[in-house]
Amino acid sequence: MGNLSHFKGVLVLFGLLALVGLATGAQFYKLFQPSWATDHFMYEGDVLKLRLDKYSGAGFASKGKYMFGKVTVQIKLVEGDSAGTVTAFYMSSDGPNHNEFDFEFLGNTTGEPYVVQTNVYVNGVGNREQRLNLWFDPTKDFHSYSILWNQRQVVFLVDETPVRVHSNLEHRGIPYPKNQPMGVYSSIWNADDWATQGGRVKTDWSHAPFVASYRGFDINACPCPDNVAWADNTRRCSSSTERRFWWDSPTVSELNLHQSHQLIWVRANHMIYDYCRDTARFPVTPAECEHHRH
Ligand SMILES: *[C@@H]1O[C@H](CO)[C@@H](O)[C@H](O)[C@H]1NC(C)=O
Repeated sequence: MGNLSHFKGVLVLFGLLALVGLATGAQFYKLFQPSWATDHFMYEGDVLKLRLDKYSGAGFASKGKYMFGKVTVQIKLVEGDSAGTVTAFYMSSDGPNHNEFDFEFLGNTTGEPYVVQTNVYVNGVGNREQRLNLWFDPTKDFHSYSILWNQRQVVFLVDETPVRVHSNLEHRGIPYPKNQPMGVYSSIWNADDWATQGGRVKTDWSHAPFVASYRGFDINACPCPDNVAWADNTRRCSSSTERRFWWDSPTVSELNLHQSHQLIWVRANHMIYDYCRDTARFPVTPAECEHHRH
């Protein structure tokens, strides 16, 4: 009798574990699908792993397109020697005048720090790179990376700490990305022509496969069905008198005081490159930089 109930307990436990495993896949597949190299995807419990080897990297994309809101994923970056590899998490619209908000994690040799590069494309034009070191080792644990997007600003967050704000300065005649629905994407690939120490350090394939792990997929944004015109989506996804989205509320449409202090701290202690300060590359300071003095 005792043995039987023990046996039942074990069965229940296995059942639960199977459910948890399914839940991951379910959570991922509810929002996303692999976009290439399905054979480089692995599911382990609540974790999705993407593998880069010398044959292929891998990538996934959201099933839907969105306007405004917040997207978050937890990532544990490639451990050990990750030099030459890039893992990216980003939002992008389609077409030649696309908008894009990028997190790119540039790998490094064992023990040397990852670099997080962010970029913003507006109407097909990027060249707005910022780079930072993190205040933790992103290969040891999962950390959350989020992009918050509303009518007023695009905020890049690491563990809920803002690391970059791209503000809407349309009132000064500077275009702001707010008219095109965006998908959510992630991928890992070989970029040893530029990624690590300016491309001097190449990918060491004897250390392959390079694995990036994901969990905690979350999209809290306004869905834009394909069959709805862009202009209608903008209207549908904007707060109006009868409808108020959380991402337009006053406490979200601007950084609060605590977040402003966090951003100042990040910029003072962890920023290693800012396109706004690269006078060699931009003899004329890009227009939005004049106003980006956070
Ligand atoms: C890699 O490590 C070197 C040496 O610490 C550092 O200069 C560089 O910024 C790091 N990251 C990349 C992507 O090269």
